[in-house]
Amino acid sequence: MSERIRAAITAVGHYVPEKILSNKELEKMVDTTDEWIVTRTGIRERRILEQGGTSELAAPAALACLKNRGIEAGEIDVIIVATISPDMFFPSTACLVQEKIGAKNAWCFDVSAACSGFVFALVTGCQFIEAGTYKKVLVIGSDKMSAITDYTDRNTCVLFGDAGAAVLLEPSDDPNLGVMDHRLYSDGAGKNALYQKGGGSLNPPTYQTIDNKMHYIYQDGKSVFKVAVIGMADVSAEIMKRNNLTGADVDWLVPHQANLRIIDACRERMNLDPSKVMINIDKYGNTTAATIPLCLSEWWHAGKLKRGQKVVLSSFGAGYTWGAVLVNWSIDPKS
Ligand code: COA
Repeated sequence: MSERIRAAITAVGHYVPEKILSNKELEKMVDTTDEWIVTRTGIRERRILEQGGTSELAAPAALACLKNRGIEAGEIDVIIVATISPDMFFPSTACLVQEKIGAKNAWCFDVSAACSGFVFALVTGCQFIEAGTYKKVLVIGSDKMSAITDYTDRNTCVLFGDAGAAVLLEPSDDPNLGVMDHRLYSDGAGKNALYQKGGGSLNPPTYQTIDNKMHYIYQDGKSVFKVAVIGMADVSAEIMKRNNLTGADVDWLVPHQANLRIIDACRERMNLDPSKVMINIDKYGNTTAATIPLCLSEWWHAGKLKRGQKVVLSSFGAGYTWGAVLVNWSIDPKS
């Protein structure tokens, strides 16, 4: 029998727009304070893409990833974009990225799993590598959340930002390195706690849906907070148990960046030292599908993510959707 092929992340890249929207600026837009936002969420500022759609975040992230791997776009077999703010419902944002970067030989599709989008897309991409069908799968998490955020609603507008980040999946050169395990979950009973009510086939856009602000994100923050704390901590503990890992064995937790308090609860449950948690929510807020690959790329660029390290990715988002992925990191640190 031939040996099992394992998928590995072989390159990372990210893009954040230049424009910064600080808490101080939000104080002028809605009834909020920097102090409230920082203590309740950990967010200090977020990035805003002024021109263009989500593909304008995804494409430069993809190009950065390819550059870091030293390959041409024509070598990519598959492009998967995780997003809930696609440029348009169709064609897929992945097709738009393909054209922008010139990945002529790739076939392309989007994955919609909100804040768990990257983790779900990553696991999907791994299947193509593990099956032996494809050799180079580009997985991108990208969201222009500012396009669906109501900047008169203080409950949501302080939370979100725009970013894109990408990873390349290839067959691992070492069976002990790569994407080792995953646990993914969904519960559609959470559908009304966090959603965009209008614009789809249930409530197609009309003057009324616009007047009722149904094209913006709606979130019952308190309800989501309660289930997110439990969901992310449970699934992270589960993946550690399945792989006989203690907090001492895990080198990095890469949590979805929705709220610092949720991240802290997850870390405590995993019994991890705070120095092992990737946190950049202060700079970017919640960039939905981009948060996890953005952390991976920033930490790799900083030389802090090293070959052989045990990395747990963990997310929770609308749907509900949640999951964790164990990765034995396979890229040498950036020198
Ligand atoms: N500035 C000031 N006050 C605000 C505010 C803001 N930006 N947003 C809400 N408030 C107010 C509320 O109106 C409420 O006032 P009230 O008590 O007079 O009604 C009060 O602050 C407390 O609101 P509450 O919702 O209880 O705050 P919270 O501690 O739950 O924090 C969130 C709110 C949104 C930060 C938090 O619930 C959260 O992070 N939820 C989960 C987000 C998440 O994980 N999403 C899933 C993945 S995307």
